[in-house]
Amino acid sequence: MESDKLSTERQATILLVDDESINLSVFGQFLAPYYQVLVATSGQRALQLAGGTPKPDLILLDVMMPDMDGYQVIGQLKADPKTGDIPVIFVTALTSDLEEERGLSLGAVDYLYKPCHLSILLARIKTQLELKNARDWLKDQNAYLETEVQRRHQENESVHLQLLQSEKLAAIGQLAAGIAHEINNPIGFVNSNLNTLDSYLRDVFCVLDASNAALDEKPLSEETRQNLRELKQTKQLDYLRNDIPELIAESMEGLTRVRDIIQDLKDFAHADKNEWELGDLHKGLDSTLNIIANELKYHCTVHKQYGEIPQIYCLSSQLNQVFMNLLINAAQAIETKGDIQISTGRADQNVWVEISDSGKGIAPENLPRLFEPFFTTKPVGKGTGLGLSVSQNIVRKHGGRIEVTSQLGQGSRFRVWLPIRPPELGATE
Ligand SMILES: Nc1ncnc2c1ncn2[C@@H]1O[C@H](COP(=O)(O)OP(=O)(O)O)[C@@H](O)[C@H]1O
Ligand SMILES: [Mg+2]
Repeated sequence: MESDKLSTERQATILLVDDESINLSVFGQFLAPYYQVLVATSGQRALQLAGGTPKPDLILLDVMMPDMDGYQVIGQLKADPKTGDIPVIFVTALTSDLEEERGLSLGAVDYLYKPCHLSILLARIKTQLELKNARDWLKDQNAYLETEVQRRHQENESVHLQLLQSEKLAAIGQLAAGIAHEINNPIGFVNSNLNTLDSYLRDVFCVLDASNAALDEKPLSEETRQNLRELKQTKQLDYLRNDIPELIAESMEGLTRVRDIIQDLKDFAHADKNEWELGDLHKGLDSTLNIIANELKYHCTVHKQYGEIPQIYCLSSQLNQVFMNLLINAAQAIETKGDIQISTGRADQNVWVEISDSGKGIAPENLPRLFEPFFTTKPVGKGTGLGLSVSQNIVRKHGGRIEVTSQLGQGSRFRVWLPIRPPELGATE
């Protein structure tokens, strides 16, 4: 370690600046065994060498020089970012406190008087080089820490994104059975309607064929006429005339429902869509309600009380995830039968969406823990404990907050506040 230190010291480069070559040669000879020594006999030359390679680690600068004096030289050195960090020791024959003060105020790190003891000179140089090493080390460490902080920040972001994604998948997984049911139901009756239509059409064609055959009979016998009447009756043509349009209308409605669910699912699952856009919260709430209809419809009555709210800049699909988490939580809190109320409103530059339920409520000791990741009171498979934590992250990203009030046994109320224009996008445009 000690030899390392020596060798780095030996490698240090000292620039001597003095217009009197005798001084240069005395100092130079003395320092040469310890350092690499550069010499300059004028301010101009000194600036040249300071900006070149090897870059000096320290400069011993004479104050009184013709053309450009030491004060001018240090002024220019400090002004240039390339040379500003090189420590400068003034070496001067002037012995005045005022001069010393001036030198130090210009950025010199030390002041020596000529003639000076060479051993003192050496000690001062050593001190300054050590200080400079320490400064450089700190600078490196800071740069390293800065990149490290940045790297961790990015890492956090990506962990957060993964968490968001897995929570969404878990939620969709939990909903999958219900969604499948929602889709299978219309597909089932459309299918059965098609079968019915198939047999209806057979009957219609049967009557049509018989009518066509009768057309060829001239004159048309009363018997054929009677047969045709009876056939129309057994095939219930009048009934078919009413039922067919109904079957078709019902089927079209069923297929529209399937199409809507799939569209909502697509909107909802659009994880890659991380773009800020003007979004209609009521539309988001409705399409989310559509997706989770099956979770709600048997035991919850949903009441909507939408207020007048403007569209807001948001990540719509992420906000839908928040609404879904709150709605599912509300539904799961309702053990037998109950109500869920969705209200919205505006206050100044903010809008709010409130989801309240008449469910079992939250124990006061659990209230502070709701938003902790993995905090759940639900059995495995029902709860991941991530819903609220992910929701809070999303809402915070929008510059908003979630308020909760709850009364055990009475129900809970979650209110999401969102700025119309999130701070991330700037307050004005
Ligand atoms: N509407 C609500 N009524 C009662 N308890 C709730 C409600 N919403 C959330 N909770 C409580 O907060 C916990 C955490 O919710 P959440 O983060 O969504 O995770 P999870 O629903 O997977 O348990 C739930 O386990 C539940 O105890
Ligand atoms: Mg939940």
